[in-house]
Amino acid sequence: MYRSEVTTEESERTAFRKAEKKYKIYYDNTKNRPGIPGALSIEEQRQWIRESLASFPQPPNRTNHNAIYGPIEDLFVSAKERRVLVEVERLPDDVCSEVNALQSDVCAPWYKFVEEHGELRSKDACKSVSASVLLRKLRWSTLGLQFDWSKRSYNISLPHKKIPDALCQLAKRMAAPAMPRGEEFLPEAAIVNYFGSGDMLGGHLDDMEKDWSKPIVSMSLGCKAIFLLGGKSREDTPIAMFLRSGDAVLMAGEARECFHGVPRIFTDAENADISHLETQFTQEDGHAYLDYIRTSRININIRQVF
Ligand code: OGA
Ligand code: MN
Repeated sequence: MYRSEVTTEESERTAFRKAEKKYKIYYDNTKNRPGIPGALSIEEQRQWIRESLASFPQPPNRTNHNAIYGPIEDLFVSAKERRVLVEVERLPDDVCSEVNALQSDVCAPWYKFVEEHGELRSKDACKSVSASVLLRKLRWSTLGLQFDWSKRSYNISLPHKKIPDALCQLAKRMAAPAMPRGEEFLPEAAIVNYFGSGDMLGGHLDDMEKDWSKPIVSMSLGCKAIFLLGGKSREDTPIAMFLRSGDAVLMAGEARECFHGVPRIFTDAENADISHLETQFTQEDGHAYLDYIRTSRININIRQVF
């Protein structure tokens, strides 16, 4: 996957890679906002932060944790309740477990969350991992048609649900100005990226979709980030922009074919630019969302695949 692509020796020499290195340590606050600043209202930001954490990582949507643990339910609430993930007891004649072992992640669950001091037997304790650690290590989830990161392609045979209607409507509204005349954007897949302190997204092209005349709608939530937009070659020096919570970017036209990436997110209170969110999560469970988003960024990007 493209997070690791940037470490090869060859890419160290490209103009894009040089810019990534430069902006990794950049600390000037004068850059402009690109795209559609403030595309999402504060209420919409709150809504999509909640969905991104509590509902988007739910099976059958896949996350980066699937490869190791299979489908796991209720990650966010389990982190809030301080649960731990343990292996599910399997019967010897459990046919599904064979498939699980081979296919690793599409069958019945073989890990589940339990109370730390309840069901946890000493046998499980050494193999258990806390939900809050897994939440911090959540890097992506996929909605709609599932993107198979190991093959970097869409796998239409994987079980999936449609993208939630409200997100489809929002994406259609945002995509409209960038659509070919008379055509309507059909959101078929979305990738949700979760960035913690120090995380980056290496320079890449999104080239797995059939029709590049369709835009990608990309929304930023949480901490401010630097977004690099390059050219069609890694040798083109990218331009740098800030993306703040509520901003949207349309990857459309020429830009649809250009290298881009996120070399840096700002998780310190002074530069994260999320004070407007502080008042949004006041309900009983709101603190868990606020705790997360104070040091994280979420990017939802929505695509028409065919
Ligand atoms: C992507 C992507 C950009 C961002 O997921 O393909 O380019 O703003 N994300 O996080
Ligand atoms: Mn991209």
